[in-house]
Amino acid sequence: MNLLITGGAGFIGSHLVRFFVNKYPEYRIINLDALTYAGNLSNLRDIESKQNYTFIRGDVCDFGKMCDLFRKHRIDGVIHLAAESHVDRSISDPFTFARTNVMGTLSLLQAAKQYWNGDWQDKRFHHISTDEVYGALALDKPEGDPPYGSEFFRETTKYNPHSPYSASKAASDHFVRAYHDTYGMPTLVTNCSNNYGPYQFPEKLIPLCISNILLGKPLPIYGKGENVRDWLYVEDHARAIDLIFHRGNTGDTYNIGGFDERKNIDVVRLLISTVDRLLGRPEGMSQHLITYVTNRAGHDLRYAIDSSKLRDELGWQPSTRFENGLETTVRWYLDNQAWLDNITSGAYMQYHAEAYRPR
Ligand code: NAD
Ligand code: TYD
Repeated sequence: MNLLITGGAGFIGSHLVRFFVNKYPEYRIINLDALTYAGNLSNLRDIESKQNYTFIRGDVCDFGKMCDLFRKHRIDGVIHLAAESHVDRSISDPFTFARTNVMGTLSLLQAAKQYWNGDWQDKRFHHISTDEVYGALALDKPEGDPPYGSEFFRETTKYNPHSPYSASKAASDHFVRAYHDTYGMPTLVTNCSNNYGPYQFPEKLIPLCISNILLGKPLPIYGKGENVRDWLYVEDHARAIDLIFHRGNTGDTYNIGGFDERKNIDVVRLLISTVDRLLGRPEGMSQHLITYVTNRAGHDLRYAIDSSKLRDELGWQPSTRFENGLETTVRWYLDNQAWLDNITSGAYMQYHAEAYRPR
């Protein structure tokens, strides 16, 4: 198997590349990444010299380069993660999201179609998407224990994206299914809930708050902090992708979620107490950093995934409880403050420029 993983220098991609490189020494794993601000090769230091791993810097929108890559590396399988992934950036710069997420996915699909040329045997195109394509759920049970509402996103839920990010991911999902339905390409689409874990870029809620607690900076909570997300530890996502890539029904969609809903304010409070405890600080020392700020435009109220199809068909379940996964994550950031400093100082971008000039 010559497996192309796109976006492998990003957060989820780097976990997935590591997982596949270690689990499948007989595969050749090709990591294609443009190294945008979100790509960071130091996420992969521990596996970069493995025999079965190759990194290529490139843009998924470069159709000619994608065609060359399929031919040169005789690609049989694709797991496509490369994307612009941050909702706030999509609000200020929607064109970049349409370009990478929609045109980039189309470019990759077409390159795969041309190279595979109708011979679909042992081929797979697995597209990694988000639960945000389904829109937002009501918060009709806001008090007490989760779940905070009676509805869940199912594979059959109608698409109703609200942000430029989720609209671009929705469009890309439709293109992937169109390639299955029109040309017979063996595709898979997975829609996952919010991931967290080591190596997440410190613009997303959890790593941003860890970084700001360490620096004594304000923790910006959008609106009242009542929005709900369904959190999944990133390694559980990697296990689900492995299972679906190998055993899922082609043409199908699978939802992946943690069954672990939390209000943003509860996540931030837990982060504060975890960081302060692990640093031996007095309890609640960083509570004063909580700062309520203007709400995000079009801020989706609640996400909650029903992943029972994946459980019933393929036997997958999340294995990491949020409290445990969060503590592991906080410990990782505390132990790897140089990784954070490299990002906040911009030094990691310099490494990109020197080590991997675009060819
Ligand atoms: P990320 O922003 O951390 O990483 C994205 C990677 O894609 C980066 O390495 C970046 O350099 C690369 N990239 C961007 N544009 C590119 C281009 N034009 N060509 C090649 N590479 C390019 O994102 P992430 O959080 O790891 O998310 C990965 C995928 O999973 C995305 O498709 C995202 O929509 C999806 N997803 C993310 C979450 C989440 O909670 N983070 C949840 C569900 C689904
Ligand atoms: P984020 O990590 O950006 O993921 P997504 O928007 O894909 O769910 O945000 C998670 C939640 O946290 C979301 O409801 C927005 C909120 N949030 C804040 O309140 N403050 C912040 O600074 C950020 C980045 C997010």
